Amino acid sequence: MLADAVRNALGGRGKRARPLLAMLSAEHFGGQPLAALDFGCALEMVHTASLILDDLPCMDDAAMRRGQPTLHRRFGEDAAVLSAVALLNQAYGVIAEDDGLDAQTRLMLTGIVSRAVGFGGLVAGQIRDLRDPPALRDEASLTSLNHQKTGVLFVAALEGGAVIAGGDAAARASARLFADRLGFAFQLWDDLQDSTSTLEIMGKDALQDEGRVTFVTLWGLERTRATISAVIEEALAALGDRDCPLAAYALSLMPHA
Ligand code: IPE
Ligand code: IPE
Ligand code: MG
Ligand code: MG
Ligand code: MG
Repeated sequence: MLADAVRNALGGRGKRARPLLAMLSAEHFGGQPLAALDFGCALEMVHTASLILDDLPCMDDAAMRRGQPTLHRRFGEDAAVLSAVALLNQAYGVIAEDDGLDAQTRLMLTGIVSRAVGFGGLVAGQIRDLRDPPALRDEASLTSLNHQKTGVLFVAALEGGAVIAGGDAAARASARLFADRLGFAFQLWDDLQDSTSTLEIMGKDALQDEGRVTFVTLWGLERTRATISAVIEEALAALGDRDCPLAAYALSLMPHA
């Protein structure tokens, strides 16, 4: 039963953006993309766990995800919560048991993921998104909130890929900066889609952010669109290369922005 629920959550119309970014990063920084496959799968498990929790009635109360009813609507809230716990736990096991990587690399990746998920990362961003009152949601605090709830996992994917490739401190810094900008653009794009796209196109509910202050509320559609383009340019500048598979994928990630 739990295995069915977990399989269901991982499947469907997900973009698998984080594993793809991890593998493209490994390649970009001089390694083998397949060396980052298990790490990428671990990130996808963490991300999927965050979506299961994000959709719960006590959080965003969403009906649809990845083109199908949300996990709690199909399997019940009990199974949804336990699926998220199982995925989060298993993600660290996948990294620990990745025998294609040496022990030091596995340890570094574990630290990267733990920092991304923990008190200063994804869970912090999620609780702030749920609880911060409108008065606290100005540009500066929304920027840090979006970084925590979304950017940090992008940073983990890109930096992890660079670590797997054996990249030096400069490579890792460039990976982090690229990911920071890409993650920021991605959450802006997600907020824009929420108010302009449809359930059929996104595979998840539109207008989930109604009543919540996002950058679209602060800036309106046009300024949000323009900022997405500008921030993607900053990402590409941080990478220092526009003609590589990693840049091409980043550009393809946010269509119709
Ligand atoms: C949705 O992420 C949640 C955000 C961080 C904006 P994705 O848009 O990557 O969701 P999937 O994996 O494709 O379903
Ligand atoms: C949630 O942002 C990001 C995480 C799940 C960490 P949203 O609440 O905007 O994501 P969607 O729109 O439901 O995918
Ligand atoms: Mg949310
Ligand atoms: Mg949501
Ligand atoms: Mg959203």
